[in-house]
Amino acid sequence: MKIRKAVIPAAGFGTRFLPATKSQPKEMLPVIDKPLIQYCVEEAVQAGIENIAVITSRGKSSLEDYFDQIPELEQFLEEKKKLDFLEEVRRISKLAEFAFIRQKQALGLGHAILMAKSYIGQEPFAVLLPDDIFDCPKPCIQQLGDSFSEFKATFIVLGRVDKEGTKKYGIVKPKQVSERVFQIEDMIEKPGPEKAFSDLGILGRYVFTPGIFEVIKKTAPDKKGEIQITDAIKLLLAMQPVYGYLFEGKRYDAGDKFGFLQATIELALKRPEFSQDLRKYLESLRPFTE
Ligand code: UTP
Repeated sequence: MKIRKAVIPAAGFGTRFLPATKSQPKEMLPVIDKPLIQYCVEEAVQAGIENIAVITSRGKSSLEDYFDQIPELEQFLEEKKKLDFLEEVRRISKLAEFAFIRQKQALGLGHAILMAKSYIGQEPFAVLLPDDIFDCPKPCIQQLGDSFSEFKATFIVLGRVDKEGTKKYGIVKPKQVSERVFQIEDMIEKPGPEKAFSDLGILGRYVFTPGIFEVIKKTAPDKKGEIQITDAIKLLLAMQPVYGYLFEGKRYDAGDKFGFLQATIELALKRPEFSQDLRKYLESLRPFTE
C-alpha cells in the first residue's frame, strides 16, 4: 500500500540549540541555504508523499510562511530578473499539500504525533523528524515504505551507533529477518553501553498504521510528563510485530550543534558550487595546531 501522508513534528523547544532557538524555530535553521525542515519535506516528496502535516506551536509561524506563496517576493524577483531564485521560491510553495496543526503544549513526541489523528484518518503514514538529515541513494522514508508494503507492519529506521550513541538513542533488541530487516523484540531508551541490547539505535523516521493513535492514548507519560513515541512503540510490540530497517546511506543529527556542523560541511562538499573551494579551504587549515 502506498504511503500518501506524512507527519513532521516540529513543536519542540529545541533546547540543544539554544540560544539560536530562543526566538526562532530549530526547524528553520539553514544547513547551507535550506532550512532543516526542507530536507525532510523533499525526502518525503521524493518518496511519493503528497500530503504533509507539520505539527507546530507558538512562535513557529515562519514554518507556515516558508511553504506558502509570497506574491510580493515573486514579483520583485521577476522584475529584477532573478529567475533562478524565482523558480526556487515557487517550487518550495508547490512541493506538497501542507496542513499545520498546533500542539498546544510540548507534551512529547508521541503526543505531537497524536495531534495528527483526524488528519491521517484510516491510512498508513510516515513520520519524519526534521532534526535528522538523511543523505541516501534511495530516500530513507522510501526504504521504510517499501518494507512496510512488503510486511504490512510498523517500521522504524535503525542505524548503527557507537558507545556514545547508546546514551543518546533508543536501542533495540533485534531478531534478524533479512540483511536489513529486524523484528524488534524489545527496546530501551538511552541505556548506555552496559545495558544496551545491541548497537542498533532508533532514528527519526517511522511508518505507522493508524492503530498507533489508540496505543499513544494508552501510553503513560514519562518522568518529565511527556508521552514518548518509544514508550508507545513498546506497548505496540506486545500486540503485534514491529520491525526495524537498517537504512542505507548517511545521516546527520542536525538538531545537535556538532551534528549540524558535520551536515553543513559534508553536504557543502557535495555541492558543485562549493566543493572545490571548501576542500581547498579545509586543506589550508592544516596542520591543526593550537
Ligand atoms: P527532540 O527530542 O529533538 O526535542 O524532539 P526538541 O525540543 O526538538 O529539541 P531538544 O532535544 O530540546 O534540543 C524530536 C522532534 O519532535 C518534536 C520536535 O520538534 C522534534 O522535531 N517534538 C518534540 C514535538 O513536536 N513536540 C514535543 O512535545 C516534543
